[in-house]
Amino acid sequence: MKHFNTTAVATRKIPIACPQFRGNELKYVKECLETTWISSIGRFIPQFEHEFARFCDSNHAISANSGTSALHLALLGMGVQPDDEILIPTLTFVATANAVKYCGARPVLIDVEPRTMNIDPQRIEEKITPRTRGMIVVHLYGHPANMDPILEIAKRRGLFVIEDAAEAHGALYKGRKVGGLADIGTFSFFGNKIMTTGEGGMVTVGNEDLRDRIQLFRGQGMDPNRRYWFPQVGYNYRMTNIQAAIGLAQLEQIDSHLACYRQVAEWYRRYLAPLADFITLPFVEPWAHHVYWMFNVILRLKVRIERDQFMAMLSEQGIETRPVFYPMHVMPPFRDTQSSYPVADALAQNGISLPTHVALTEEDVSYIADRIRSLCNF
Ligand SMILES: Cc1ncc(COP(=O)(O)O)c(C=O)c1O
Repeated sequence: MKHFNTTAVATRKIPIACPQFRGNELKYVKECLETTWISSIGRFIPQFEHEFARFCDSNHAISANSGTSALHLALLGMGVQPDDEILIPTLTFVATANAVKYCGARPVLIDVEPRTMNIDPQRIEEKITPRTRGMIVVHLYGHPANMDPILEIAKRRGLFVIEDAAEAHGALYKGRKVGGLADIGTFSFFGNKIMTTGEGGMVTVGNEDLRDRIQLFRGQGMDPNRRYWFPQVGYNYRMTNIQAAIGLAQLEQIDSHLACYRQVAEWYRRYLAPLADFITLPFVEPWAHHVYWMFNVILRLKVRIERDQFMAMLSEQGIETRPVFYPMHVMPPFRDTQSSYPVADALAQNGISLPTHVALTEEDVSYIADRIRSLCNF
């Protein structure tokens, strides 16, 4: 295997993601510490929930301690029971599938579209059975799923739809914010996301009954009108005031974060355009506003280096990358050998997520593109 001469670049390190705290984060966290409101009561929690609901054009938002617990709460809120079947795309982060398992239900996998990497509406109906209760669609890597055909199928077949928008804060489907397009939306604020609370999540809902049900599950099932009375089993999925303080400060800067992500994507497009024979760049549907949580490239046949080796060689140059998600149908807990998922397989085999975050400079992107060009011509 050939190696680059790394002496000139050995000290350079470009992380794949990197949170930025350029606003009121420190001020708000200091307030939590000074007032001693550090756990799950405090002014920042309702304020963050209120502002986040507004940001998503949703009626209500319920904070949670992770995007995974937000998904679990959404499924509990929809009344998912053991042995129910829930349709999900096979190409997603494992949390989408795990949350279904937490309910004792069965994730039923659907292949994705080659261009957007999102659940393929044309493959949904063939997997519906009498046990199917609903589906989770994922706005993967920041590109919205094709909601109209999905919602039409759901309505006709009597299914609920949850939007997993963990990677897509601010993305638009036909001009409308994701997270407010279906029955429920869920978000993650993990440290590598477009906005972060360290760990954290949010559920967005349209109606008060659903909000109240989800709040009950989030707080150990405690009766809101009778302290320490628990009419049902619940969970401790509460966000802390400190997390909400950081979240509110991050939300105040979301427009500038989103602008930075799109700027990074524009730079990648400009610098990688000459490599069109070697790599496929992200596709954007005309109805979509893509927020580019991660900028992915798919290696084409002309590239003579295997994907994992390609990534290892970028790593030698100080460039951190990730493989596009391994699909759920190859994971031991969710393995499915009965159906085939050729699109997800091809994307997972050849896809690489490149560094995408607010602190990247044009010079970083140009450097990354330059290294990719060398590998394509290897
Ligand atoms: C598509 C998707 N769903 C759910 C999650 C879970 O979020 P969290 O890591 O906050 O639990 C993530 C997080 O990376 C994700 O990418």
